[in-house]
Amino acid sequence: MNGSIFILKGNIVYSKSQTEFAICEHSYLVCRDGKVDGIYRTLPFRLGGNPIRDFGDCLIIPGMTDLHTHGSQYALRGTGMDRELLEWLETAPFPEEAKFSDVEYAKKAYGIFVEDLKKSPVTRACVFATVHRETVMILMDLLEKSGLETYVGKVNMDRNCPESLREKTALSASETKTWIRQVQERRYRNTHPILTPRFIPACSDELMDCLSRLQKEYRLPVQSHLSENPEEIRWVKELRPDAEFYGEAYDKSGLFGGECKTVMAHCVHSSEEEIQLMKEKGVFVAHCPESNANLASGIAPARRFLDRGLSVGLGSDAAAGTSLNIFAVMRQALQASKLRWRILDKNEKPLTVEEVFYMATKGGGEFFGKAGSFEPGYEFDAVVLDDSRMKSPEQPDIRSCLERLIWLGDEREVREKYVKGVRLEL
Ligand code: GUN
Ligand code: FE
Repeated sequence: MNGSIFILKGNIVYSKSQTEFAICEHSYLVCRDGKVDGIYRTLPFRLGGNPIRDFGDCLIIPGMTDLHTHGSQYALRGTGMDRELLEWLETAPFPEEAKFSDVEYAKKAYGIFVEDLKKSPVTRACVFATVHRETVMILMDLLEKSGLETYVGKVNMDRNCPESLREKTALSASETKTWIRQVQERRYRNTHPILTPRFIPACSDELMDCLSRLQKEYRLPVQSHLSENPEEIRWVKELRPDAEFYGEAYDKSGLFGGECKTVMAHCVHSSEEEIQLMKEKGVFVAHCPESNANLASGIAPARRFLDRGLSVGLGSDAAAGTSLNIFAVMRQALQASKLRWRILDKNEKPLTVEEVFYMATKGGGEFFGKAGSFEPGYEFDAVVLDDSRMKSPEQPDIRSCLERLIWLGDEREVREKYVKGVRLEL
């Protein structure tokens, strides 16, 4: 049996390594049973007769991952950001998230988010919902229907937030368990649960222990926030005197890598010790440069993360970030790294186009397993990009086309998207 095969033709680019593109001009990208079979300049005879879609001069790149975003904050995008993290949470996200106790509101708000995520340049995402179990399911149903591959989290909070969002510790744990079971019953193909303690200030030690037990029982991954803002970090020191640094608080609760696949957003102010622990435990960083600028959190040491061998992906962090356009996040990562190098540390060379592309594709994709590359055996996530909106008197070479997409591109360039070998209806 050959299995099910189809072929896309175009200018194919993926990461050969963290610092180098593999560029295959007018080549054939073969999908077999939802996985990448190979790339060919001339199609081997044995593959003749399979359906081919020829995209001419379009670029074909691996599906990209948004490693950190908030579906429940999307309605706030572009408003109310003249504050730092803790004050911003009180004035913008918390009141907005409280609305998600209402099924009708959630249907509308999540509907808009999912529609935009589907049209965006990403094929995969890690998404925060809210504490409300019932409406988290609305988001998960919508995402499943979209065909995107996602991890979705019911948020946990039992302290330091408004009454309307605060859960009693035991209830937060039992609701989370009920939610996990409900998700299992739905037998989604592309939509997976991820434990989501919001951050240490909003989660008591007892709640963290309950979540750690659930993590072990159901072998779930974890997403949260880490070392985003100086005031937040000071607060965590007070709340968790048992921990030497912020990341150690998660680690002492058993929710920081190792057997527990973990992604932490921001890590703007992570110390060398914290970075080392992340490396040892295989904790992923979701680098969110736009959010970090908008909330004046700072510039995360992305170059240092790469130098220390951490797994790094990119996050839009809507609504502290303004959009779901991961191309914009790539250029913001480039810009932030240039400023950090110039202003803060001449040892931290600016990121390159190759490096931010790697983060957006294979770096973030690794959180999902074999995703974000066109090496044989990877899950077949592909994005076909038509850059004809960017007119120029002469046709640039393929690398320049990709570079220009990273600097100028958005969802308007997305012509088709495939997830695990299935074409999405855009
Ligand atoms: N830390 C805790 N909650 C949040 C959130 O919703 N957004 C951001 N950027 N940081 C957080
Ligand atoms: Fe966030």
